[in-house]
Amino acid sequence: MKESGKSPCAVSLSGLSDKVPKLFGIPSGVPGLDELFFTFRVEGEEVKRVLLNGFPSASVIHLTGVPDTGKSLIGEQFSISQALCGYNVLYVTVEIPAPFLALSFKQRSQALKADWDKMKERIFIVDATRYPELRDNVGDLCAFLSETIEKEKINSTVIDSITGLYEGREMLARSIVRKLYEIMKKHYQTAIFISQKRSSHEEISSEAAGGYAVPHIVDCTIVLSKIVLNSKALATMYNKKPGEVVRTLRIDGCRMCGHDSNVHLLEIDEKGLVRVGKPLYEVLK
Ligand SMILES: Nc1ncnc2c1ncn2[C@@H]1O[C@H](COP(=O)(O)OP(=O)(O)O)[C@@H](O)[C@H]1O
Ligand SMILES: [Mg+2]
Repeated sequence: MKESGKSPCAVSLSGLSDKVPKLFGIPSGVPGLDELFFTFRVEGEEVKRVLLNGFPSASVIHLTGVPDTGKSLIGEQFSISQALCGYNVLYVTVEIPAPFLALSFKQRSQALKADWDKMKERIFIVDATRYPELRDNVGDLCAFLSETIEKEKINSTVIDSITGLYEGREMLARSIVRKLYEIMKKHYQTAIFISQKRSSHEEISSEAAGGYAVPHIVDCTIVLSKIVLNSKALATMYNKKPGEVVRTLRIDGCRMCGHDSNVHLLEIDEKGLVRVGKPLYEVLK
């Protein structure tokens, strides 16, 4: 109270009307994913469902899954598609050092036949693996992110992964994620927070979503999962060969807009390009 110099007071909805952000779709860069988010529009007597065609704008999307489910590939594909649309992206790497991440971006851009010269000036990388003070002190990290977002006119931020920021101190997970969430909201970022799920967490439930009650803080959670088809019967069910892997994606809640809540196939081709496929109920019909 003293900090802001003002006493708290309630504000009516009309008093907030000039502060309400516009809701629109931010292309994810992943074919098939944008169509899973929708909103409603009043047309005459009817309330009609309209596709948002992307992630809800200025939302913090939590992307979680066990290893090898496509989290980083989605983070990179999103960054490239935003850069190609002319928006600046901040990619915070907590796992792999920046030069290796740059190599991965280069491979992704080749696979997408994207204009490397166009995108390379728009994707900014913060290498938290080189600066332990950023990885270990969320206050420093938030201040640095705030400054960089303003300086480089950043529209979208990806953190890969938030799990790396509370390694060995999981009890702080919620407070660390909350501070990062607040910074993203302050700067109207459309953000992807990647988290690593342990295989012991239940597969596609909300508790699966990174654990530690992180999903309660963020705006939207997407759970990635994979099934190894280790029997002939299982392989036949999916119309695949025994030993193949089936990956899935499910939006496990989004408080910003309507969304599809089915489990969908998630396909990763040999070039490392990700797309969302059919819902599982169609595949297993
Ligand atoms: N060309 C490719 N480059 C990178 N990954 C690929 C490629 N082709 C297939 N993949 C597969 O995509 C998987 C998912 O990668 P990644 O997004 O890094 O997983 P996660 O971040 O969830 O651990 C890889 O483990 C690999 O099996
Ligand atoms: Mg990864």
